[in-house]
Amino acid sequence: MLRQWKKSDNEVIGRLEVENFRSPWSLEMLDSCFLYDNFYGVVEEGDGVIIGYVGAVYSGEDADVMNLCVDEKYRRRGYATKLMNGIIDYLKERLVKNVFLEVRRSNRSAIALYEKLGFTKVGERKRYYENTEDAMVYVLFIGQ
Ligand SMILES: CC(C)(COP(=O)(O)OP(=O)(O)OC[C@H]1O[C@@H](n2cnc3c(N)ncnc32)[C@H](O)[C@@H]1OP(=O)(O)O)[C@@H](O)C(=O)NCCC(=O)NCCS
Repeated sequence: MLRQWKKSDNEVIGRLEVENFRSPWSLEMLDSCFLYDNFYGVVEEGDGVIIGYVGAVYSGEDADVMNLCVDEKYRRRGYATKLMNGIIDYLKERLVKNVFLEVRRSNRSAIALYEKLGFTKVGERKRYYENTEDAMVYVLFIGQ
């Protein structure tokens, strides 16, 4: 079941960050998202367990997806697709037109996912991650 990401989810999400990312967001960073009205996130929950999550910030016609993750045990079952479509539906309601995201050059699974969802590569940020790995910048147009 897809539902809104609440601040009280952050402890569990913080653990998934540590398990799944080289530079995980800390609990403080996750909590700070909830200080802003223009943050929105969704989680996929099954039997009371958080399977995955995605968060975005939006302003005017543009949004940035900040973190997307599916627990390793549940991958390749369409959950990331469902999460991305869930947040895109919300952003469309907020009249966002362009959804941006950054992804590591080496992250083939995420790049395959984004390209399958229709995202287009629009740029690169050199040495964006830990001052070593490049970020690929992708955008999806969701406006009318
Ligand atoms: C990237 C990630 C979110 C994908 O989650 P997922 O739930 O497995 O993705 P989905 O099942 O919705 O996959 C949809 C499509 O993406 C592509 N894809 C996903 N994982 C892939 C992989 N390991 N290899 C190749 N393609 C892959 C496929 O085209 C897939 O469709 P298919 O299964 O019909 O072939 C997940 O691997 C993850 O959490 N990784 C660690 C965190 C991370 O890298 N997040 C992204 C940061 S930018």
